[in-house]
Amino acid sequence: MGNYAEEINKRRTFAIISHPDAGKTTLTEKFLLYGGAINLAGSVKGKATARHAVSDWMEIEKERGISVTSSVLQFEYGGYCINILDTPGHQDFSEDTYRTLMAADSAVMVIDASKGVEAQTRKLFKVCVMRHIPIFTFINKMDRDANDTFSLLDEIEKELGIATCPVNWPIGSGRNFKGVYDREERCVITYADTQKGTKEGHTTVIPVSDESLLTENIGEDFKSQLFDEIDLLDGASAEYDLDRIQAGDLTPVFFGSALTNFGVEFFLKHFLQMTTTPLPRKADIGMIDPVEHDFSAFVFKIQANMNKAHRDRVAFMRICSGRFDAGAEVKHVQGGKVMRLSQPQQIMADERKILNEAYAGDIIGVFDPGIFSIGDTICMPKEQFEYEGIPTFAPEHFARVKQVDTMKRKQFVKGITQIAQEGAIQIFQEFNTGMEEIIVGVVGVLQFDVLKYRLENEYNVEIRMENLPYEHIRWIENKDIDLDRLTGTSDMKKIRDLKGNPLLLFVNQWSIGMTLDRNEGLILSEFGRN
Ligand code: G4P
Repeated sequence: MGNYAEEINKRRTFAIISHPDAGKTTLTEKFLLYGGAINLAGSVKGKATARHAVSDWMEIEKERGISVTSSVLQFEYGGYCINILDTPGHQDFSEDTYRTLMAADSAVMVIDASKGVEAQTRKLFKVCVMRHIPIFTFINKMDRDANDTFSLLDEIEKELGIATCPVNWPIGSGRNFKGVYDREERCVITYADTQKGTKEGHTTVIPVSDESLLTENIGEDFKSQLFDEIDLLDGASAEYDLDRIQAGDLTPVFFGSALTNFGVEFFLKHFLQMTTTPLPRKADIGMIDPVEHDFSAFVFKIQANMNKAHRDRVAFMRICSGRFDAGAEVKHVQGGKVMRLSQPQQIMADERKILNEAYAGDIIGVFDPGIFSIGDTICMPKEQFEYEGIPTFAPEHFARVKQVDTMKRKQFVKGITQIAQEGAIQIFQEFNTGMEEIIVGVVGVLQFDVLKYRLENEYNVEIRMENLPYEHIRWIENKDIDLDRLTGTSDMKKIRDLKGNPLLLFVNQWSIGMTLDRNEGLILSEFGRN
């Protein structure tokens, strides 16, 4: 047990999730501003610049104008040490996002006030609920015409199945956005656009008891509407309950405008008080306590080619317990090796800072010579345990991939294997042959483009891809089954993964049902494990 409880307890590690364009990047930038991590004057130049500042690791991002990679940011604010895990918003990269959520202790969900709950939010949300990750909702863009506030809350409750508890309450929206009502302090904070490079807002704080001042500032109509809504709210909304929030049962809701920097600090302050310190994690030997236990971590993300000049590969780890000391030896459990982690670093935008120490709750990136896989555990040499694996999501699109130039076989296999280790794609082989032909499975079709692009650019291998009609994959759970005698439908395909585990590919649900009917006792599973 270390004496670094204080360091660990000041850490807050959360992921920020949203449907693309809801304002995640803008909000993140404003957070950093409060931590003094960036110089705002030079940074608020619009989306293009903001995006590049945060994650500009792949050319393809620029070409497609979407954020492919996840980035990690750390800053200090109000005595807390904050780790933000940014998540790619595009649906094709959801698997990466799921993994990022595994490394977070809570999630901030950004919703566009004029759009409400959108497809991607819904998906991400399910993962949070599944894992009981506390969720904090920031309803953004109140400076634009917004949907009715009660309907927005209703939508979150109905669509996402979680109770809501507004911490503040908006008064008007768009051109008539007057500010927010702070329910705890029972005062109104008037709206001010403070985006122009300053974090000090020119807002006025008016206790609701001072009715005449309130009328003067927001007008009679908004005042009486607010009073009505306060009554309604106090009667109808779920009560603030920290236990429920931390169990992921109740989401505190905040209103604001990231662009004009209104309500951002309010959110940050309250959020930091409500969210948790680094949480214990489940391993095969039981729960590992972040403070009581020596250093341990798990790999949740692997990323190659983060910097063209380096042509390297970085494994991102979430430290789950204790203190990481860059000089000390650690054990890579799955590889069975004791080693020093090479070039441990904190990755901040495209800058890297070599670290000497880090604590539970922190995310570190280490140079990976190709030994780590997603889900791997790192602990002290004297210890032996594994964190629960990260489930791999069943790919839904498949293609047969071959290299064009047969002389480049070696590079092709190396490239495709490394990309698979990073978790961007999954690779499979024909059942009875070797790696002559590789079958690639992806969750989102854009990954096929990423694969082609990366093989060409990083490994100098041109490939040819033939799409396959399969849409469903199932791992065979039975250990004792005779696969040659397995009878399925004519369009079913037997393949195996790189570990030799047998799998079946199906064109549709019907074939899965038929195959189960025809083979008594057959157990098929949708999830593999890393
Ligand atoms: P994302 O990361 O969730 O995809 O969203 P991002 O922050 O990039 O924001 C998407 C767009 O919404 C941006 O405009 C951004 O300026 C705008 N935006 C973010 N927060 C607010 C807000 O509180 N109010 C208003 N009115 N707009 C907001 P864009 O036109 O796509 O880009 P640009 O104008 O920044 O170049």
